[in-house]
Amino acid sequence: MTYPIYLIGYMGAGKTTAGRLLADRLGWHFVDLDEAFHEIHGLSPADYIRTYGIEAFRRKEKYVLEDLAELPIEKVVYATGGGYPCWEDNMECLKELGTSFYLRWQPHHLAERLALTDLNERPLLHGKNAAEILEVIAPQLEARAPFYEQADYIIDAPAGDILDGTEDEQLAEMLYDCIINE
Ligand code: S3P
Repeated sequence: MTYPIYLIGYMGAGKTTAGRLLADRLGWHFVDLDEAFHEIHGLSPADYIRTYGIEAFRRKEKYVLEDLAELPIEKVVYATGGGYPCWEDNMECLKELGTSFYLRWQPHHLAERLALTDLNERPLLHGKNAAEILEVIAPQLEARAPFYEQADYIIDAPAGDILDGTEDEQLAEMLYDCIINE
């Protein structure tokens, strides 16, 4: 397996939370690319998109990831932005730079998880309940799946009927096992 590790998947998939837990467990660095974007450009991805539009954001987002990949540190877990892999040749870039893991969820579970988060940073979902969120995200998730599914590994999130709040820990555990057993 080549390093660094890139976690990809839809908003709410646990890329940041599970990624941080995974990096701690491995004793590696963790970088959230949305946070890195904010530090470098002075605006959060949501504010940048509101101000300059999605195309400008995607161009900058691409360079943030590629510039960080030039650092001579391999033992890093990166949480990518949810739309990153679905833009131009980004998925190919990820596969060249390291090893990618798609955190795959059933759409209704993603909607439930998103409904529990602060939706101020997600203008399209703001003020919506889980059922309404599902209506918004389901078509986008379907369109993005062919990109996400090109990942080197697909990790299926726990699929029980009820989310019990331990899913991110379970994902981190699955990722850890996959990485150390390679
Ligand atoms: C986006 C997801 C966000 C952020 C931006 C766009 C998307 O990242 O990059 O708001 O298009 O899905 P997270 O997946 O980390 O929330």
